[in-house]
Amino acid sequence: MDKMDTSNEMMTMDSNNNNGVTKIWCDGCYDITHFGHSNNLRQAKELGDVLIVGVHSDAEIEKNKGSRPVFTEEERYALIRGIKWVDQVIENAPYCTTLETLDKYECQFCAHGNDITTTDAGVDTYQMVKDAGRYKEVDRTQGVSTTDLVKRILKSDPTKNSDNSTVPEIISPYTGSTQFLATTRKLKQFAAMKDPPPNARVVYVAGTFDLFHPGHLAFLEAARALGDFLIVGLYDDTISARTSPTGIQFPIMTLLERVQNILGYRVVDEVVIGAPFTISRDLLDHLQVAVVAHGIETQILPDPDTRKGLDFRGCYTHKNTKIYVEKATVPPISNLLDGRPQNPDPYEVPKSLGIFAEVDSGSTLVTRDLLDRVLANRAVYEKRNADKERKELARLHADLGKQEQIMANMQAED
Ligand code: CTP
Ligand code: C5P
Repeated sequence: MDKMDTSNEMMTMDSNNNNGVTKIWCDGCYDITHFGHSNNLRQAKELGDVLIVGVHSDAEIEKNKGSRPVFTEEERYALIRGIKWVDQVIENAPYCTTLETLDKYECQFCAHGNDITTTDAGVDTYQMVKDAGRYKEVDRTQGVSTTDLVKRILKSDPTKNSDNSTVPEIISPYTGSTQFLATTRKLKQFAAMKDPPPNARVVYVAGTFDLFHPGHLAFLEAARALGDFLIVGLYDDTISARTSPTGIQFPIMTLLERVQNILGYRVVDEVVIGAPFTISRDLLDHLQVAVVAHGIETQILPDPDTRKGLDFRGCYTHKNTKIYVEKATVPPISNLLDGRPQNPDPYEVPKSLGIFAEVDSGSTLVTRDLLDRVLANRAVYEKRNADKERKELARLHADLGKQEQIMANMQAED
């Protein structure tokens, strides 16, 4: 349904009693917040002037979906607040979208992707706003879903999952895995497309930023505060895999998915796609960088290229946990300084120029923590995915049945 039925009595708002401002309401779980969510919010914002996003609490999600989300409500609130098209976040929004909610926040319409969302009782959560003609549909983004990311995480740990084929493939057309096809158009829709202002103080940071989380967001905000234009360098998948802190297959999201993800946040002004691990003088000159920042929460690893031919196998401690380093990954830099290659520090050039800054994000959350939440609760998340798909397929079959019945009735009338 795309057209508004202005004759409907339930429709209490119109664009005039809001001083000509059209407010749009979106709501959702937004778990493992990804670029499908931001693209949904981008399209919704295009339907009006102000975008208000209701985010469901952990308890509400558990009640309706049967399991708690991977990202906590506080994490999801923070991330949705960081998305550049969002004007306001409403915490603890009800799972079913009511006209009262729309009216309370003076929203004329509710927008949602063209997939099916049902309550624990199988009821369409948007039925009320659909019936009132206050529902607008936007295109669901192909090739990304929370369900698929959960599946990838489940498959990522070879030590806990000797037979990866036990993680079932998802066949639902909504949350099922279809490949994300990055195009220049999609990147352009997300990109800030602006140059640094004259005399801008450009800040450069680099990393994998896999499964973008509130620790990343807090880090980027702190880094950007060191200047007035933030460039983020994203490592390609090969570099990211070699700097994985454990035997986990890493990264979970590909380079182009990570690019699309990070571009959705207003703190990011520009992205280098496939950034070099070691920051050279050439890079600093080219991007006119004034400050290079790294977070204190993660160790600086040596450039993987400096350890060619060496076998680093060992163990180090991170957050009181022993981490076993496989041959294909690199140990923390301190392990390398004893008789190993000199100057493996990727930040050596900015440090020698006096433009390197360590930033405290104030968050101890790292990507590995998120992976652990899923991997430590494998059975819960396998069930979560299976239930989600079963619900979607049941609903699809029911809709198909209804359509067939309508066709049969029409044929009978003829
Ligand atoms: N959405 C979208 N494109 C995607 C994923 C989500 O447009 N690839 C939209 C949904 O249509 C909805 C909003 O984002 O309007 C929030 O969806 P949510 O159910 O929280 O996210 P999903 O990733 O679809 O989660 P799941 O896999 O559990 O369905
Ligand atoms: O996840 P990744 O290692 O790619 O992190 C990118 C950057 O974010 C690094 O500089 C890291 O130190 C920083 N970070 C942070 N606080 C966190 C998580 C990451 O400062 N909680």
